[in-house]
Amino acid sequence: MDRYITLIDKLKQEHTLSSKEWTTLIGGRTKELSDYLFAQAREIRELHYGKDIYVRGLIEFSNYCKNDCLYCGIRRSNRNTRRYRLDEDTILSCCQEGYELGLRTFVLQSGEDISYTEDRLVNLIRKIRGSFPDCAITLSIGEWEKTSYQAFFDAGANRYLLRHETYNDNHYAMLHPAALSAKKRRQSLWDLKEIGYQVGTGFMVGSPFQTPELLSEDMLFLKELNPQMVGIGPFIPHHDTPFKDEACGTLELTLFLLSCIRLMLPKVLLPSTTALGTIHPKGRELGILSGANVVMPNLSPTEVRKDYLLYDNKICTGDESAQCRNCLEKRMESIGYHIVTARGDSLNI
Ligand code: 5AD
Ligand code: FES
Repeated sequence: MDRYITLIDKLKQEHTLSSKEWTTLIGGRTKELSDYLFAQAREIRELHYGKDIYVRGLIEFSNYCKNDCLYCGIRRSNRNTRRYRLDEDTILSCCQEGYELGLRTFVLQSGEDISYTEDRLVNLIRKIRGSFPDCAITLSIGEWEKTSYQAFFDAGANRYLLRHETYNDNHYAMLHPAALSAKKRRQSLWDLKEIGYQVGTGFMVGSPFQTPELLSEDMLFLKELNPQMVGIGPFIPHHDTPFKDEACGTLELTLFLLSCIRLMLPKVLLPSTTALGTIHPKGRELGILSGANVVMPNLSPTEVRKDYLLYDNKICTGDESAQCRNCLEKRMESIGYHIVTARGDSLNI
């Protein structure tokens, strides 16, 4: 036990561990150790962000995807998904609704939809930028050429979310089709940073074949990239994918890693994700109590929510935007935290 406490204290003070130390800590975790770790992570979170919770309105604007990631419910080979694509006006009215609910960051998320071309996206971003000058625009639209990232940035996008999914090349290849590579993914992240985006990356916890050694590689990569945001959530199987019979990632490991990330990157933006809320009724509250400081209510039109299923049993699919926003507000108040109306830029710049 003492040996592990020493590692946590070292992480809190020096913000880094070696690969071996990470593997030891992650592989040796216990309930008592987790409680100690959560308390340290909360202390650091409150030092920088107090009890404030940043909110981002998520707009899932298309579930068409040219990729075929083995874990994802909207993968190309899933013929059972009803495909949809929102037009510009619908997306703008989602933003408007979000704005009225106090949201100042919009996250535009989609599969890699070839119909949403660079030009079309640039137009969309310009329109949102023009209508909501005080809001941050975050893109979560997969891999593009660097020139496209630049065009989106020039049109007014500020932030980009692109999870690295797993650092290790072999593990990456076990989760993705051959057309995608871990190396290309990481290059995108460096490109995005260079352009000037606030960047978010991350991975699924408990993805098939994941081990403490692989997670230690993820932690070292996060340290090296030093992103403004890190999104992690449990892997949850989707019934129409090759991973349908794989085990879910656990609440316990997700919370443990959230706390580790808070201690390693003290000022990072750390969402308590929908996937976490899906595997446990109080998952998002527990995420906040482990050091997370961001929640992402869903602003997608209710009619399409049941079609944006990356995994089974996703929560919030029957709710309206206002319900989602208010539900989160109540949940956060119930644990003594409060949602703020602000862009919520990272302090980690
Ligand atoms: N379970 C949990 N998370 C998933 N994602 C995709 N499919 C799943 C799943 N089955 C995550 C990926 C992706 C993000 C948008 O959603 O990490 O980057
Ligand atoms: Fe969406 Fe609770 S956050 S309904």
